[in-house]
Amino acid sequence: MVLCGTLPAFGWGPQGHNLIARLAAAHLTPEAAARAAEILGPGNTLASISSWADRIRRDRAATAPWHYIDIPIDQQHLDMVRDCPKGDCVLAKIEDFKKAVVDPAATAEQRKEALMFLVHFMGDMHQPLHCSDNRDKGGNGVKLDFFGRSSNLHSVWDSGLLGRIGQEDALFTQFSKDLTERLAKKWSKGTVGEWAEQSHKVAQKVVYGKLPKAPAGGQVTVDAAYERLADRVIKDQIEKAGARLAIMLNATLR
Ligand code: ADE
Ligand code: ZN
Ligand code: ZN
Repeated sequence: MVLCGTLPAFGWGPQGHNLIARLAAAHLTPEAAARAAEILGPGNTLASISSWADRIRRDRAATAPWHYIDIPIDQQHLDMVRDCPKGDCVLAKIEDFKKAVVDPAATAEQRKEALMFLVHFMGDMHQPLHCSDNRDKGGNGVKLDFFGRSSNLHSVWDSGLLGRIGQEDALFTQFSKDLTERLAKKWSKGTVGEWAEQSHKVAQKVVYGKLPKAPAGGQVTVDAAYERLADRVIKDQIEKAGARLAIMLNATLR
């Protein structure tokens, strides 16, 4: 068997998840911050645990589908019966873990896992390809050329594009500045299902809608125009995820 470095991707890379967790942490109430610290235990922060769910996915295969929901790209709306029939998609798990994190019957370890999953999945659902499918495993099956490297559409949206925008600390400073309380409040309106439909719309309009066509017999090549559009969308999605995670934790951990 040949093992190569391209295992299927399961969400924003660590840089995206760290940014979302850091943005959320900056918008927590003192009560929610204290409760989160107590649940996670000494030495842990929202950022330090934000990619834990990806690190354990290979040992816990049943959790793999929890990272996404495959809303067909040619559908306008989410349908939980069609898109999440077994209740093991990212939207169902966000609802499950939102409850588990404050379940008085849960053990301390269960509450900690619930919070670690919740922080991660709120990030994942804002990656447009984690709420969309074009019979291509959320873009994992679309091979392309990404600035001279062979990659795939899903991986480019998980981490390739964000990695080219800038370094995490610089992005955190920039995103924090733009994520005002007014914006955070506006974005926090709506349900988790509506946020998934927004992610899905972005996949329709930009991720697939603006993707350069492959030349006859050739492969798609990501160009600078696509990258510019993508950068704006990614910044928006990460800020939305951070704001919404903060509001959700503020309402839950009290
Ligand atoms: N596997 C199948 N669909 C997927 C998706 N939308 N995102 C990540 N992995 C997937
Ligand atoms: Zn993930
Ligand atoms: Zn992914």
